[in-house]
Amino acid sequence: MRLKDKVIVITGGAGELGSTMARRFLAEGASVLLADLDGAALAATSASLGGERIALCVADVGEEADNARIIKDAEAAFGGVDVFVANAGIEGKMGPIATQLAEDFDRVMRVNVRGPFLGIKYAMPAIARRGGGSIIILSSIAGVTGGNGVAPYSISKHAVIGLMRSAAMEGAAAGVRVNTINPAPMVGRMIRSIEEGLSPGHEDEMRAAYVANSIPMGRYANFEDMSGLLVLLASDESSFLTGSVYMADGGMSAR
Ligand SMILES: NC(=O)c1ccc[n+]([C@@H]2O[C@H](COP(=O)([O-])OP(=O)(O)OC[C@H]3O[C@@H](n4cnc5c(N)ncnc54)[C@H](O)[C@@H]3O)[C@@H](O)[C@H]2O)c1
Repeated sequence: MRLKDKVIVITGGAGELGSTMARRFLAEGASVLLADLDGAALAATSASLGGERIALCVADVGEEADNARIIKDAEAAFGGVDVFVANAGIEGKMGPIATQLAEDFDRVMRVNVRGPFLGIKYAMPAIARRGGGSIIILSSIAGVTGGNGVAPYSISKHAVIGLMRSAAMEGAAAGVRVNTINPAPMVGRMIRSIEEGLSPGHEDEMRAAYVANSIPMGRYANFEDMSGLLVLLASDESSFLTGSVYMADGGMSAR
């Protein structure tokens, strides 16, 4: 049990990666608070995970008061917070910059950048009160590379690397480590939506060409591929790891 007695908050906890990591964290002995916009999906996720050592919080990460409530609820349920995973994210609309609408850009920034910023604002002091712990932000391969038609998403995932670096400086003295995980595309809803936006009607061909040309390991990731790295960064085994970008991309960024 590598996370015994840890309390872990996961935003976007009803999503595909959020629920996959929750299952693994629970198996490693942690308690989890899952926060998400979607209350019905939260309830279904909790049921599928067995409901034990799980608290739920319906919240919008773009709202400051909701971020405060997420941490307060976790402390009320489990006595404190050791790990915060800023995982909630949206892909936005695909298309060249010249066709993007300002309001769609703002929507992506609100969830993907303002969300983790406000999350850390409340999680950092709570984790410091426990004597230290870990903050993990979900960036992406799109946080270190650009791409046609994905500018708002890519910008938002670059921005959280800046957030991570500043937060790592601010948290170090109190033992709060802060890192990003940067996955390659993972087989699921979000990447299918991106493919549909970029290449409507030709999603499968687009995927095949992208995998062949861009991913040395020759496949998209699965959500479970992220689990080992997430457990490492959440656990005390990563006691000297802070301020870093952890690519989990099957070799994509090595090209
Ligand atoms: N899926 C991929 O291929 C991929 C690749 C790299 C990085 N990522 C990142 O990983 C994270 C998880 O992605 P996923 O594939 O599980 O996506 P997902 O769509 O399955 O899950 C995202 C969850 O976030 C929730 N959410 C959206 N807006 C919210 C808000 N304002 N407040 C609270 N919750 C909100 C959604 O309800 C959903 O449950 C995201 O940050 C994503 O950008 C995903």
